[in-house]
This record gives sequence, structure tokens and C-alpha cells, in this order.
Amino acid sequence: MRYFWTVSDAHPPELLITGDGSHTIRRGGGPTYHSLHGALTESRHIYQEAGLRALLELRGQNPKSSAEGGERVRILEIGLGTGLNAALALETCLEAPLLRIDYTALEPFAIPLGSLADLNYDSYLRTGAWRVWAERYPALYEEWRSQGQGAWSLESHGVGYKLRVMAQPWPCSLEGLFDLVFWDAFGPSHAPDLWEEESLVAMDRCTAPGAWLVTFGASGAFGRLLKGLGWEVQRLTGPPGKREMIRARKP
Ligand SMILES: C[S@@+](CC[C@H](N)C(=O)[O-])C[C@H]1O[C@@H](n2cnc3c(N)ncnc32)[C@H](O)[C@@H]1O
Repeated sequence: MRYFWTVSDAHPPELLITGDGSHTIRRGGGPTYHSLHGALTESRHIYQEAGLRALLELRGQNPKSSAEGGERVRILEIGLGTGLNAALALETCLEAPLLRIDYTALEPFAIPLGSLADLNYDSYLRTGAWRVWAERYPALYEEWRSQGQGAWSLESHGVGYKLRVMAQPWPCSLEGLFDLVFWDAFGPSHAPDLWEEESLVAMDRCTAPGAWLVTFGASGAFGRLLKGLGWEVQRLTGPPGKREMIRARKP
């Protein structure tokens, strides 16, 4: 049984170079997976700096300090795509040895092994994080395809990083509560359902009190839906090419 739809190797995703030199992909004439102004710059700006690292700082943890660490952050990503956000979270984890990250990502359309191997992120990520991530992708992909989900962990290597990828599409119900949501689905013009109320109610249900959500999306409608659920919405400066992004906090 196959649990997800891969892009046929006969029609692999198109590989594009973005403004900062890092790759992104596009499938079947659809939207690009990242900003053309800079894929890596966008991922670092929104999901790492305004997301994971800001959350650690708020909790009084220096993300670079191994002495302070000891924090656990449960991350949910909607739309694993290339895995760039997951690998950047691993980079943060490798730089803060006492930090523990439990990373769950949903992705019903896995990218093929060959396309992942073509991405140039190894030249940009510190601590060999992309290499570690990409080396584990083939086994993860097989498990995820045959069983509907795949997982790996670096805990036996003394690194507090656990990854779980599920083929089921969002919205769905998930066990456990998350502290930080990377809302990185395609935008409202390509995936309108994911930006509507039902999708956000499902997200609210699986997040812990005080949880954060970060996203490239900045539409007024999305902000109003979050506010309607009681979340506090902040508009921050976006990455190059984007005036604003949203960071929201659950009370
Ligand atoms: C903007 S791209 C994600 C970029 C990704 N985070 C990365 O760093 O490459 C959006 C992703 O959402 C996935 N997606 C589409 N529909 C989805 C759904 N219903 N649930 C979860 N993911 C979905 C797409 O396959 C695509 O990989």
C-alpha cells in the first residue's frame, strides 16, 4: 500500500536558484516551495529566528548555550516539503546540546529521493545539519511510503532531536500537544482550505497553552481567525520581498 503520492521521477520537480543562492523547487507549474528572494533566508527569518530561537529566548534559554539547555520544544510543521525547516531546527539542536526537539511534520506529497539529493542546502547549513538530515531521508521515505509515517531520532548519539513525518494531510487530529507550529502550507490562493476556520480550530486543539505559530502568511482574514480563537497576533517584518509575516501566541 502506498500512503502518499510522490512526484513521478519522469516529471521531477523543477529546481530553481533563489536570490540568496539556495535552491527551491516547484511542481507541475504550481507555486514555488519558498520565496524566490531567498529560500534559506526566508526559512531562517520566519521559522528559526522569529520562531524557534525567539521562543527559546523568551523561555530564558540561549539557543547557543549548552550549559543552559534542557528545554523541550514540540514542533508541528504543516508541509515538510524539502525538509529545510526541519533541518534548520536540527542545526539549532546541534548547536545547543541540551535542547530537545520533537519535530512532527505532515506531508502527503513527498519529494522523490533524487530531487532531495539535488538540493544545495549542505553548503548553507551549519554543523553538517543538512547532511545528517539528507542521509536519513531514504530510509525515512521508505517507511513513510509503506506505513504512512516514518521516524528517526539522534538520541542514541546524544542529540535531542526526534523527527516524525506523517503522510496524512492537514487538517487531521494528532495525539499530543505542540509548543510551536510552522505553518508552511501553500498560500491561500493554492490551498484555501488550510487557511480557513476548520483548519485553525484543529491546530488550536493540538497546541499547548502558550504555544506559538509562525507563518509567511500575513492576510487579514487569517489574523482575524486566529484572534477569534483567542490567539494574540503580532505582525513582524517579513523576509526580503515580504512586508509582513505573522507570529501568533495562544493564551
Ligand atoms: C510551501 S511548501 C512547504 C515548504 C517546506 N516547509 C520546505 O521547507 O520545503 C507547502 C508544502 O505543503 C504540502 N501540502 C500540501 N497540502 C497539504 C496538506 N493538506 N497537509 C500538509 N501538507 C500539505 C505540499 O506538498 C508542500 O510540500
